[in-house]
Amino acid sequence: MAKIKSSYICSECGYESVKWYGKCPGCGEWNTMNEEIAAPAAKQVEARVKVASAHSRPIALNSIDTTDEVRYKTGISELDNVLGGGIVKGSLVLIGGDPGIGKSTILLQVCQNLADKLSILYVSGEESRRQIKLRANRLGVNNEFLILTETDVEIAAEHIKSEKPDLVIIDSIQTMNLTQLSSSPGSVTQVRECTNLLMRTAKSLEIPILVVGHVNKDGAIAGPKVLEHIVDAVLYFEGDRQLSYRILRAVKNRFGSTNEIGVFEMTDKGLSEVVNPSLVFLSGRPKGVSGTCVTCIMEGSRPILAEVQALAANSGYGTARRMATGFDYNRMNLLIAVLEKKGGYYFAGADTYVNVVGGFKLDERAADLCVAMALVSSLKDFTIPDDVIIIGEVGLAGEIRSVSQINKRVNEAARLGFKRCIIPYYSVKGVSSELLSQIEVIGVRSVRQAVKAIIEG
Ligand SMILES: Nc1ncnc2c1ncn2[C@@H]1O[C@H](COP(=O)(O)OP(=O)(O)OP(=O)(O)O)[C@@H](O)[C@H]1O
Ligand SMILES: [Mg+2]
Ligand SMILES: [Zn+2]
Repeated sequence: MAKIKSSYICSECGYESVKWYGKCPGCGEWNTMNEEIAAPAAKQVEARVKVASAHSRPIALNSIDTTDEVRYKTGISELDNVLGGGIVKGSLVLIGGDPGIGKSTILLQVCQNLADKLSILYVSGEESRRQIKLRANRLGVNNEFLILTETDVEIAAEHIKSEKPDLVIIDSIQTMNLTQLSSSPGSVTQVRECTNLLMRTAKSLEIPILVVGHVNKDGAIAGPKVLEHIVDAVLYFEGDRQLSYRILRAVKNRFGSTNEIGVFEMTDKGLSEVVNPSLVFLSGRPKGVSGTCVTCIMEGSRPILAEVQALAANSGYGTARRMATGFDYNRMNLLIAVLEKKGGYYFAGADTYVNVVGGFKLDERAADLCVAMALVSSLKDFTIPDDVIIIGEVGLAGEIRSVSQINKRVNEAARLGFKRCIIPYYSVKGVSSELLSQIEVIGVRSVRQAVKAIIEG
């Protein structure tokens, strides 16, 4: 009997080797090499896949016709925005997210919206027809489209070829498998080869395919990074599962910008769009307490207000605890160091916590000053008035550095009824005179000046 060959594949980068390494030679990650039985029939798979795309041929660039409608609008404008204007014909889009975040839900809603215009095939390897129907009933999905419960990706591809639907949904890629490969569904090889097969099907038949991908505990789509390279667009669903808000973000998009986000609220009728996210993230804000403060960040072309809360409490023990939710932990430590060294605010001996309300993540430098002020406000126990908004990047010298698109940010603050903006000194010239008449703008150069501006008003 022939010896079964096995190889080791890195789950992060897809590096392959015949021997096991503790540290992947490809990407340097630890403990990511997993044993997989080498595919004896890999050649066969390739041969079959080739047939699928046999009718592709070289064609002159200028003779390619782009006049007919190439994007399908999903009818969910937040989703269309993130996709860059709708689903592109022949594209493969990966939708990732934690379990239960709402991936199947949004796709069913897409089916509902598109089913009267397009023929749709929904392939589920996860749930039974009954389960899908029950969810559809709950969401009020009653338009007609095809459901296939199947885990063999080749059979699914055969159905796609024979049915020739206008749109295909695969829920999820981790449940799909190629029978020739002996490794189990969800393994690196399976996920990669299944995606490859789907990609070729999408391209050769010009059918867009939306693929659901599960996310591992580190927040990456389970399966190798190479998966993200194969597909045309990668969308992530984020959000705290305990809270009802969900943010859809593109991390890769061959057909649009990756800056746009979509904000949704999960209800029993499915995901509904949130047109005014700033209002949502600010609802239920406590009044007249120290340690809370509002900033404005840009998500693509869209300004969004977010509330930051900080708590600095005397720690009973020797070593103080620090924790950040929704804000970078190291950035918080850096801000604390700047506040100590340049501002004279000492956090040693205080347990310090920073939290961004609403499950939102602030990863923009423009939020620095707001976080710093929330920290000082809690430490010194003074309140930041609730009609004040604080925007600015904090430099290592304690200086406040200017931020981009200041006019849009201040405008959003004014729109939502804020009365005073504390912004970088060098950004004041970026605010239009029309806005300056609606809202008071104070330019500050240092963290100390910012504190002074808050207290003195
Ligand atoms: N009756 C209900 N009312 C309100 N929300 C509900 C109801 N039933 C389910 N949900 C919400 O729907 C979510 C499940 O959504 P969905 O099945 O689309 O997630 P998923 O991302 O596809 O998950 P999985 O990874 O398990 O496939 C639940 O976490 C819950 O928040
Ligand atoms: Mg699901
Ligand atoms: Zn690796």
